[in-house]
Amino acid sequence: MSLFKIAVCGRKGGVGKTTTAASLASYFSFHGLKSLVIDLDPQSNTGFVLGVDPVAPGTAELILEQSPEPLEAAENLFVLPGGSSLQGRDIEMADPEELSYAVKALNDFKVIIFDCPPGSDHLERLGLVAADIALVCTNAHPLGIIGAERVLAEIKRRQERHQSGPDYYAFVLTQINKSRVFDKALPEQLSAKYPAIPQLSVGQNSDLAWATAQRTPLMGNSPTKKSIEDIEQIARWIAEETVVSGQHNGKKI
Ligand SMILES: Nc1ncnc2c1ncn2[C@@H]1O[C@H](COP(=O)(O)OP(=O)(O)OP(=O)(O)O)[C@@H](O)[C@H]1O
Ligand SMILES: [Mg+2]
Repeated sequence: MSLFKIAVCGRKGGVGKTTTAASLASYFSFHGLKSLVIDLDPQSNTGFVLGVDPVAPGTAELILEQSPEPLEAAENLFVLPGGSSLQGRDIEMADPEELSYAVKALNDFKVIIFDCPPGSDHLERLGLVAADIALVCTNAHPLGIIGAERVLAEIKRRQERHQSGPDYYAFVLTQINKSRVFDKALPEQLSAKYPAIPQLSVGQNSDLAWATAQRTPLMGNSPTKKSIEDIEQIARWIAEETVVSGQHNGKKI
């Protein structure tokens, strides 16, 4: 059984969803948890940044029950690429529960991370419905915040209607550079409006950016302890919120 099914989402483009998803997957896999990143983005960046073939059969084929083979990026780290077939009519028509159903067969992965696309409610929803945990990413740009608020509204709407979706969620404040005025103000700005929602953050970090540019999973690049501490903190929050508290989707594990 998968321990964590995590949607990394945010609606706005370029806020660091893929960097966060790929780094987190690399971190979990490095610590012995077999991990799979499912890319829901027609741009197919996840496979690219993790160094596998981004145009191989992947998420669309999974949703369409064609049993694609996850691609190995490193020990314990696998990817199902996104791609233009996610824009096809058959995926557009897919039930929002379809991906949730499909990943049940992938239960040898302890961690499944859905890298959600920008701008597509439908593809993002497939990931949210399949996830237990949502990391809602925003940088300090106002459009990033608006995008995150839209995802949050969707999560809450689903919860109120008792529809499938994440039980746990947090903001991830991305690309943070505390010497910038907007970035410094962001935590308070969000907590004034959303006092109950936990905030995690990923600072502006060249090791994270370089790992993606060099198409090498973060942990394969011998990162410094300092450069992985934000990712480590997110991993710890996930473990503490779910497994350590003894509850996961209402069940003991
Ligand atoms: N923590 C970070 N530190 C430094 N650079 C970052 C960080 N996060 C993201 N970036 C850079 O910001 C750009 C966008 O990042 P990324 O592709 O992860 O965003 P995204 O939200 O997945 O974008 P899209 O919406 O297009 O899928 C990239 O150039 C990436 O290297
Ligand atoms: Mg992305």
